[in-house]
Amino acid sequence: MRRAMAEAEVGDDVFGEDPTVCLLEEETATLLGKEAALLVPSGCMGNEIAVSVHTRAGDSILLDRYCHIVQVEARAVTEMLGRRFLLRDGDRGRLRPEEVDAAAPHGEPGQAPLGLVEVENTHNWASGAIYPLERLEAVSRAARARSLPVHMDGARLWNASAATGIPLASYAACADSVMVCYSKGLGAPVGSAIAGTKAFIQEARGARKMLGGAMRQAGILAAGAIHALRHHVARLASDHARAKRLAESFAETEGLTIDPDEIETNIVIASVTTRPEKLQEFVRAVASAGVLVAPFGGPGRFRAVTHLDVDDAGVERAIGAVRDAARSVLAR
Ligand SMILES: Cc1ncc(COP(=O)(O)O)c(C=O)c1O
Repeated sequence: MRRAMAEAEVGDDVFGEDPTVCLLEEETATLLGKEAALLVPSGCMGNEIAVSVHTRAGDSILLDRYCHIVQVEARAVTEMLGRRFLLRDGDRGRLRPEEVDAAAPHGEPGQAPLGLVEVENTHNWASGAIYPLERLEAVSRAARARSLPVHMDGARLWNASAATGIPLASYAACADSVMVCYSKGLGAPVGSAIAGTKAFIQEARGARKMLGGAMRQAGILAAGAIHALRHHVARLASDHARAKRLAESFAETEGLTIDPDEIETNIVIASVTTRPEKLQEFVRAVASAGVLVAPFGGPGRFRAVTHLDVDDAGVERAIGAVRDAARSVLAR
């Protein structure tokens, strides 16, 4: 990947003249079955651009309350862009079509007009849960029946597709815009994209500039992302198998609770049930064995993620580190 980045042919992407960026955008749009795509520096910016193009200041966005847009991007969406949230308790992060049906399209008196439905696939806070395609299609139909656009935060859409065998484009067809990340599990150092119609992407280009995300010789980054798409997608199934192995072992570890059946992709969230107040100490003890897990997803919960730098031996080491930390910290 580093070599591909060093050797990348570049131009000025502010003028749309970087051939490597253009190639990445074309490949991404094709994979997602959309007319066009746009490279952006981060997943957050991709989501913010979509919000900015689909909605106007004062509009609300219907979404699950644990979506990344709410948990991490709320300042950008509410303070900077002036949009509001219409929050729902999703089923492991997934909306139900009835919730879209029930949302008043023009807003109740005193409420903000509804401008967008947002879905996250896979869902970070729900341990990488996948939206079943039929559910996504039903949510999308309900939104379209009300002329509401749908934005998909598909930071890890590759993982959903790898786990189910359902083509990326089938998921993407349920949304008007899709954000995907080349960083995270695909292993590129920087980069995400949004995809949609040509008209959407033309407006998105302006929003990207507004947010400070237009880059110049960005082909260096795009080359890393192209390498990731060509070499690191096929291996995602191994991350999923390793995540399952981690979850099964955590389930057998005294002091921890997790349902391994819920682990479908590469994110494993478990709870420290015996001594939740000791979570930080537990995480530090795991780290002292050279294994990183993060407090995540609520009181007493922590997250482990498998990715291309974790092999089978690494997973076994992580299992040992978590067991030892549970024994030494949670049993006391
Ligand atoms: C579901 C989801 N969406 C968006 C993002 C934001 O991506 P970035 O960190 O590249 O801004 C993340 C990051 O973890 C994420 O998990």
